[in-house]
Amino acid sequence: MTAHDTTTLDRPATDSSALAFFVDEKPALATFLDDAMTGLAASPKRIAPKYFYDERGSELFDKICQTPEYYPTRTELGLLEQHGADIAEAVGPDCLVVEYGAGSSLKIRRLLDALDKPAGYVAVDISRDYLHGQMSGLAGDMPEIAVGAICADFTQGFDLPAETRDLGTRKLGFLPGSTIGNFVPAEAEALLARSTKLLGKGGQFLIGVDLKKPKHILDAAYDDGAGVTAAFNLNLLKRMQSELGAELNESGFSHVAFYNGDQGRVEMHLEAKGPQTIRLEGQTFDFDDGERIHTESSYKYEPQEFADMAKKAGFVPRGLWTDADGLFSLHLLEVAG
Ligand code: AVI
Repeated sequence: MTAHDTTTLDRPATDSSALAFFVDEKPALATFLDDAMTGLAASPKRIAPKYFYDERGSELFDKICQTPEYYPTRTELGLLEQHGADIAEAVGPDCLVVEYGAGSSLKIRRLLDALDKPAGYVAVDISRDYLHGQMSGLAGDMPEIAVGAICADFTQGFDLPAETRDLGTRKLGFLPGSTIGNFVPAEAEALLARSTKLLGKGGQFLIGVDLKKPKHILDAAYDDGAGVTAAFNLNLLKRMQSELGAELNESGFSHVAFYNGDQGRVEMHLEAKGPQTIRLEGQTFDFDDGERIHTESSYKYEPQEFADMAKKAGFVPRGLWTDADGLFSLHLLEVAG
């Protein structure tokens, strides 16, 4: 059982009454240092993509979403715009929307605008300050909807607080942005299976899933011409220097990203240009020329592949929307039985 703190936070007068609730489940934060030490000692070397998102990393991610090569954000927004009425009809009225992560508020605004009388909206995110800021803004802008927030690690499961009990007749999970693609398939299926308990009977899940497509489009999307994705990847080394006191030569590494068709995923790596050494906490991690740190996998799914995974996790596919160029998909799933 997770301890809940329904907190009244110090916040500007303009938003103090806007949020219906803010629950802090006090998620355990695996430390960057422990994970970096373990990941650099592993073979092959790795660092989890969650460490991309410090303040600078989050800013760079926002910029990635605006590059001409990175199609997922604008394509998904287009799908929400174009098919909003169909999605609303399939979902039905009076639902409580539960977003896994507090990402682009543009997407949730578009969804809430499209839905038929949504009864409430709850965002779940591990970054306390970011979550509070985003949700306060949204609550202020949409006073007709009860907006709440839960600070929790949604990958570990979370509970909905008592305040949501009277909000809506059914729940709609929302996981946009192809975030599901950053989990290995077994973890993605486990996340979906866990969500069936939270969403309950008649509950639905709207999920943005990036589609498999020709390699040159995927390679470019993760290695844009302006070098924003490269800076995003290399920012991990900057974080190691500034936050962990690591000694390393940042310019001794380069950004490498490519679609691995056998695995059905884009991989991002940091690759050593010549022999390199990272010193951390008195330990030395040596790199041969060309040796890599695997920093991210981004799995892509054919519609049927993803529907099959969802079925195994306990869902029935209810809707599928894709764009004319076959770039991105939105799946609507319903908890089975
Ligand atoms: C957040 N996530 C879904 C992005 C993706 O496409 O896998 C992260 C990203 N990495 C490089 N570009 C974008």
